[in-house]
Amino acid sequence: MTCPADQWGVDPGKFWMRGTPPQSPVLLDESTGVLNVYGHAEATQVLSDPGTYSSNITRALGFEGENPMQEGNLLQMDPPRHRKLRTLVSKAFTPKVVADLEPRIAEVTGELLAPLEGEFDLVAELAHPLPVIVIAELLGVPADDRAQFREWADGLLTTDAEFNAREIDVDSDEANRQMRMVAEMGEYLLGHAAERRRSPRRDLLTDLLQAEVDGERLKDDEIVNFATVLLLAGHITTTLLVGNTVLCLDAHPDQQAAVRADRALLPSAIEESLRYLSPFAVVYRASTEATELGGQQVPADQITAVRLGAANWDARRFADPMAFDVRRDPNPHLGFGRGVHFCLGAPLARMEGRIALDRLLDRFPNLSADPENPPRFLRSFDISGVDELRVRT
Ligand code: HEM
Repeated sequence: MTCPADQWGVDPGKFWMRGTPPQSPVLLDESTGVLNVYGHAEATQVLSDPGTYSSNITRALGFEGENPMQEGNLLQMDPPRHRKLRTLVSKAFTPKVVADLEPRIAEVTGELLAPLEGEFDLVAELAHPLPVIVIAELLGVPADDRAQFREWADGLLTTDAEFNAREIDVDSDEANRQMRMVAEMGEYLLGHAAERRRSPRRDLLTDLLQAEVDGERLKDDEIVNFATVLLLAGHITTTLLVGNTVLCLDAHPDQQAAVRADRALLPSAIEESLRYLSPFAVVYRASTEATELGGQQVPADQITAVRLGAANWDARRFADPMAFDVRRDPNPHLGFGRGVHFCLGAPLARMEGRIALDRLLDRFPNLSADPENPPRFLRSFDISGVDELRVRT
């Protein structure tokens, strides 16, 4: 069998996808100063213990207070403040809000698929616009601004370089460019939030302005940063999920045939895709005190990269990890994280993925990746997936 990572041109550094186990489930990279966590048990331990492994890594890097995206950014926050804010935003982003989106997601999918025929780029035509339109409408910002959202997302999330804790330069051209983008996005969202304060509407921005826990409401910068995370995390990862699932099914015709014959397998096929090709391949933490992990000593303030993509291929946890099995059950993958930061958007991403794939398989009985125009994988080490996927129908 061709190794899927080679077949797809996945970054050579992602050794676990070539069936090579890590030297150790926990390994310090001396060159970057980052402790890499590859094992499933060890990753779970880190993610389940926010007291020992903080999500606020800027503190350990020594420049706390200089990060304009900190306030309201759930991803970089620890309990107890995290719990309070997550409760607050969960009041606006409820399971019912997500469930009510189903007809609209089906409608947008139908509209995007309708004009397609022959050969096309599945990312440009479906995988990218669908989640962006959905998250923009949910938040209450114009979906027509999506070219701008993509520019921000590409600029902020798809850097090629591997994170190096020894070479942080907060004044580099790259850092300044990113800061400018964050500021631009902030201004854009603040403008819409201010407008909603004057004239409330039925959208998530308005709900965020009005949500209250223990008499506390979100401040403007908290709303802006949370909305930024939603706008970025809310679309780029789902874009990757849809593209990755099509690629996985394409590379495994027997599994595709099974899903085509029985669509009840789609939800577990999507879970398997999240395991096999995890869009969000790494999350970072910093130890708050000296501790031990996988039999190794971990000093305080140690930057720790929890490699979700590798943990999801851990042979100690998953039988035959290189097999893409749409019936895998149980499938305790870490694609959406684990613990207090477990992805808030998971129900939305799962629903978008299910509807998009279901309609796509209906519409194109002979869908296949175009061998003459191979998929273009993002070079980023932090996220896995394609930004171009040419298909034949
Ligand atoms: C958190 C993955 C879609 C919003 C996370 C985390 C992961 C993740 C791994 C945990 C980060 C950590 O522990 O540091 C994914 C994947 C997605 C997806 C693979 C799609 C396939 C979405 C969507 C939304 C969203 C559609 C919003 C509409 C969030 C938010 C958090 C989060 C707000 C932070 C939660 C917290 O810190 O409490 N996501 N995500 N995600 N995700 Fe997602």
